[in-house]
Parts: sequence; structure tokens; C-alpha cells
Amino acid sequence: MSASRLPVVRDVAGLRAAVAAWRGGGQSLALVPTMGALHEGHLSLVRAAKARASRVVASLFVNPKQFAPHEDFERYPRDEASDAALLAGAGCDLLYAPGRAAMYPDGFATNVIVSNVSTPLEGEFRPHFFGGVATVVAKLLLQCLPDCALFGEKDYQQLLVIKRLARDLDVPVEIVGRPTVREADGLAMSSRNFYLTADERRIAAQLNVIMRESIAAIRAGSTIADTEQSGKQRLAAAGFAIVDYFAVRDADTLAETVDLSRPARLLAAAWLGKTRLIDNMAV
Ligand code: PAF
Repeated sequence: MSASRLPVVRDVAGLRAAVAAWRGGGQSLALVPTMGALHEGHLSLVRAAKARASRVVASLFVNPKQFAPHEDFERYPRDEASDAALLAGAGCDLLYAPGRAAMYPDGFATNVIVSNVSTPLEGEFRPHFFGGVATVVAKLLLQCLPDCALFGEKDYQQLLVIKRLARDLDVPVEIVGRPTVREADGLAMSSRNFYLTADERRIAAQLNVIMRESIAAIRAGSTIADTEQSGKQRLAAAGFAIVDYFAVRDADTLAETVDLSRPARLLAAAWLGKTRLIDNMAV
């Protein structure tokens, strides 16, 4: 047990023993998968999980498979003690924090690939990413076998990929998406916001402003093509060095859309210095 009094297990056997004891007592179970560096967005998932199930497990695993070699795996913020204390305060019952060897033992050879919805946007700019996410989330779901698992809409494409994965593999779990939690100035909370300098942090708030104004422009009659182009120009003018994408897509398939009678989503990814920010909103 850690100083936060939150029990911690580090392998599948420990996780399954705790889950079996709860199941034996007829209790329901929710899983909140995380990579740590927790913020209010994660804690809101834990609280929502607690409202849905009698027990909540949070996983903490910085998944090497979803980082490319040039990405920030090594410098990704890690502070398990502080994360455990935050989880305990939010009502979490168990922390599952496996090491790399427990998650990917020697000889590990399976990769889960979800086609179609993984391909555009993040899939184009981070081609390794969804394979890594789908593989680790499939493992976490099968290790824990929760009734539901909760994910933030901040990673909207990831949420669609995980929903598809659970449906396609008949995993008996409800995948629940929860609204993005934002700072007072609208910036979507993200563990990667910790990387921003004070100047970058100030500029970062413009992402939300430009997205909201772009959606208002579409509602007022601007075409999707014009809105996407002007959004990219405005981000560049605000100080975003590179805009990977600023795109309106079908909210279910992420296909390019001009049909606004169906639900649509504006999704964006842009760089401030060495930090890549993503955000999305319903159109
Ligand atoms: O969103 C995240 O933090 C990660 O991608 C997840 C879902 C925990 C898988 O590693």
C-alpha cells in the first residue's frame, strides 16, 4: 500500500485477484486507463466512473508502443506517488501500475490494428500511435474485464478507435466518452501542457478561441474549406509553428464531410515549440 493509502498492484495476477474478490461480492467495476501525469481531466473520469460502478480501477502505464522513437517517451512526466494521492482523493479503489516487462513480456508479438478510423488525422501524423493504443487498451480491457471503461473526448479519435476495437473484438465492456475538461481560458487539459513555457501557454489558449470562432463561422454559413483554411492561417498568425491539421470531419467516421446535416467534429493539432497540442469540438 502506498502513502496515499491507495492499494497498488503491478501484475495481472494481482489485478485479477482484486477484481475476483469484488466480483464475488457482486460488485460492478469501472476502469480508467491513464499514462499518469494526472490532471483534472483524469480525475473527472474517476469521479464519473465512481458514479457508474461500485469499484474503480485506474491503470497507470506509459505505453512505449504508442510513442515513435523521436517522440517524448523518455521525458513524459512520471510521478506515481502524486498520481496515486490524486486518484485516492477522487475515489479510485485500486491503482494498476504494471512495469514494462509485466505488460510486454519477452517474446510479446501481437499488435492490434483498427483500420479506417485510425487512418486519417492523428494516424497520418503519428502512424505508430493507434496501433500502440489499441494494443495496450485491448490488453487492459482483457486483464481487468470491467463493466465500463472511461476515456476523455479530448482524444476524440482515440475514443472512436477504442469503441471500434471493443465492438469488433466483442469485448464485453461499455466504452464511455466524457467531455473534455478545460482550463479557465479554454485550453483543453493535457499532461503535455506541462511542457509549455509561459509564452507558449499564453498562445495555447488561442487554439480554443480559433476553434470556437471557426464553428461559429460555419454555423453562420462559411464553407468548410474556407473555415479550415482560415483556421490554419489564424493559428499560424497566433504563433503556432506548424499546424498538422485543422479539419471538419464526420463525427462518427472521421471521413471528410460537407454534409452538415450529420454530426460533425472540428479537430485540430498544432505545434508550439516542442509541444504538440490537440483539441476537438462538436460542430
Ligand atoms: O489517453 C491515454 O492516456 C492513453 O492513450 C491510454 C488510453 C491510457 C493508452 O495508453
